[in-house]
Amino acid sequence: KPLPLDGLQVLVTAGPTQEAMDPVRYLTNHSTGKMGYAIAEAARDLGAQVTLVSGPVALDEPTGLEVRHVTSAQQMFDAVTEHFATADLTIMAAAVGDFRVAEVANDKIKKNGRTSITLELVANPDILAWAGSHKKADGSQALCGFAMEINAAKKLAHKHCDMLVANNLRDPGAGFATDTNIVTVMTPANNATGAPNIEHWEKMDKHELAERLLIKLAAIRLSNLGQSPDDQT
Ligand code: CTP
Repeated sequence: KPLPLDGLQVLVTAGPTQEAMDPVRYLTNHSTGKMGYAIAEAARDLGAQVTLVSGPVALDEPTGLEVRHVTSAQQMFDAVTEHFATADLTIMAAAVGDFRVAEVANDKIKKNGRTSITLELVANPDILAWAGSHKKADGSQALCGFAMEINAAKKLAHKHCDMLVANNLRDPGAGFATDTNIVTVMTPANNATGAPNIEHWEKMDKHELAERLLIKLAAIRLSNLGQSPDDQT
């Protein structure tokens, strides 16, 4: 029996990034990678060839897909730029550090009697925005981002995404470290109003959500190519 993502290459980013301050310290966030890993595993189970670019997480290594382990946002960017051109579906679920330490100290930073220190941070590349501006013009690459807030509609257009998944971390059962998620799914407007299409999805297990997001993104890709899912057989 053919699977829904047979013949497709899927690229997924997952987990946090770590930005070094010195050889022993770093800046990071609370992402566990669960959502991104669930997406990568669901894509594999739906028949796709999957590359997972993962920040440092404590999850089991998935089998049946290629995992690229990275630490910093810059390394994640480099891995994505290497794999993006061949990806049909790209889903960026990583919580990428927006900033990194301007000058990483070669040795452990000492207190030296100081009561405060100042760290200068500089912006990291926006990987999703880069991908959005490097999609092939023929509609064969569909791109999905995640965002934290409900006014993510702007991000959808700004970063040239075909789909944007917004989760509100204040909802119980949503976001980091939970096994469920509650999301709002936005897709670009296809009408004269210019307002994005917005769907509020019910609370569901991250594995079920992963599968539904992939099926939806694959359908968007076919529609961008001017095909319907029924043409696939
Ligand atoms: N992202 C990325 N590279 C970055 C930052 C974010 O690829 N340097 C991706 C994330 O993987 C996610 C989306 O962009 O898919 C999140 O966008 P972001 O602008 O960070 O959104 P928020 O975190 O919701 O909001 P804020 O504007 O406050 O940063």
